[in-house]
Amino acid sequence: MKARTVAKTLGGVAVLGVLFCIWLMWEPAIAPVKPSMPADKAAVARGRMVLEAGDCAVCHTAPGGKYLAGSLPLKTPFGTLYTTNITPDSETGIGQWSEAAFSRAMRDGVARDGHLLYPAFPYVHYRKMSDHDISDLYAYLMSVDPVSQTPPPNRMMFPMNFRPLVAFWNLLFRHGDPLEDQPGQSAQWNRGRYLVEGPGHCSSCHTPLNFIGAEKGGSDHFAGSIIDGWTAPPLAGLSTAINPWTQGELVAYLRGEVAPNHGAAAGPMLPVTHGMATMPLADVEAMATYLLSFAEAQPVAGACKNPSFGALQPASQLSQIEQQGAALFAGSCSGCHGDAATMRRLDDRPDLGHSSALLAGTPRNLVKAVLEGIPMSVGAPSHYMPPFADNLSDQQIAAIAQYLRGQYCPSQPWGNLSQTVTQIRQEEK
Ligand code: HEC
Ligand code: HEC
Ligand code: HEC
Repeated sequence: MKARTVAKTLGGVAVLGVLFCIWLMWEPAIAPVKPSMPADKAAVARGRMVLEAGDCAVCHTAPGGKYLAGSLPLKTPFGTLYTTNITPDSETGIGQWSEAAFSRAMRDGVARDGHLLYPAFPYVHYRKMSDHDISDLYAYLMSVDPVSQTPPPNRMMFPMNFRPLVAFWNLLFRHGDPLEDQPGQSAQWNRGRYLVEGPGHCSSCHTPLNFIGAEKGGSDHFAGSIIDGWTAPPLAGLSTAINPWTQGELVAYLRGEVAPNHGAAAGPMLPVTHGMATMPLADVEAMATYLLSFAEAQPVAGACKNPSFGALQPASQLSQIEQQGAALFAGSCSGCHGDAATMRRLDDRPDLGHSSALLAGTPRNLVKAVLEGIPMSVGAPSHYMPPFADNLSDQQIAAIAQYLRGQYCPSQPWGNLSQTVTQIRQEEK
């Protein structure tokens, strides 16, 4: 056979394969219904808790926008997607969706009219939720104020702008039924596993992704990843980490409270803690129990092995760059963070050296925190840091990072700091 004939045959087979998969995964439209106020008030109240556990509002509310009305841009490696309006507006929201249509979207990632939803909507996790929780969530969503708002058109790259291709992705990665309790584990552990692996979708940020954006499995589960330029640290082995977590510290961290011996959440983790702060305490305790049961993590390259908490290096031992960093720190940071080692104990917050950002293998989260700051959290006025992107140069941030790392992990300085800061700053655009 000539090469051209082979190519033609292969091309034909590929086209047939695509059509076959699309046919296999084809889903019909579900008839529209008239929006109606849910009658069961208890279900509405429970559904609100499920919504907080699932962080729905974090993605479905744009900054300064109306609650759950969508239009938040999500940057993916394949282009920008806008979240949809999930208020019960019948024209622009999900007012015409029956509970069956909603449930199919949550489990299978299929919209009411039958089109496939992109997996940036974490249905691979939500499909593990119980029927009961999905039903309560539906009741709650039908009870919120309808808002008329349509998201801007998505800007996905070819070929991912062709939605039926998601059928392939689903064939490979859309697995697993609602989670069943594991016998031999406590009720608390099972509850925690359900919340972490199901509605909480924690691994969508804390597990590395493969080249088509699906979570890696096996020992990569919870091995850490990068999201919006921030490192989401590994969650495996938290109890045996270099700065180990106790149950009480982890519960405090997850609820956005001051966690003794640990830094507080910043970046993409901050809104997640806001959701957990409104959940019942017993649920967050269950999540901590489950997380602390993971086996030891794989070692992270460059992570601090020998931290020095509290002991300040004498100024005479600092390099020139570190001295510059110390002066900048005194001017811009020490008002809140105190001398590098003796934290002013703003609200009894532990010193910076206990933050994972200082002990990590790379300066990424330190740099991100300095560039972006930490937005104000309702009810926690001391959990705020201003952004320094416009006030400090790359070289100045690098000097501060070198100084701080030298204070807390003198045996493992970070290399190439200036270039790293420049590179992280450019990623933002
Ligand atoms: C990580 C961000 C993210 C989170 C968290 C999230 N969603 Fe979404 N959701 C999306 C995106 C993006 C879309 C649009 C996908 C598309 O257009 O293909 C979407 C679509 C939907 C749709 C389809 C709506 C339509 O009109 O097609 C429903 C229903 C939905 N989400 C409900 C929820 C609920 C309920 C929760 C919480 C349990 C939730 N989402 C959490 C990102 C998210
Ligand atoms: C949107 C992405 C995202 C989601 C979803 C997410 N995290 Fe995080 N998480 C992060 C990032 C980023 C950090 C680092 C924050 C920082 O440095 O301040 C983090 C930090 C953490 C830490 C601190 C780890 C350490 O070593 O300091 C814990 C614990 C944690 N997350 C648990 C969870 C749990 C439990 C869930 C699910 C309920 C979750 N995360 C969901 C992005 C996420
Ligand atoms: C207005 C007070 C304030 C100022 C000024 C401030 N910070 Fe912060 N910073 C905070 C608070 C509050 C936190 C979170 C508290 C915690 O970790 O317990 C934080 C957290 C951090 C973190 C940890 C981020 C993470 O991902 O966990 C780093 C690193 C940091 N600050 C560095 C700096 C540096 C460097 C400067 C000066 C350029 C600075 N901060 C100035 C209040 C401040």
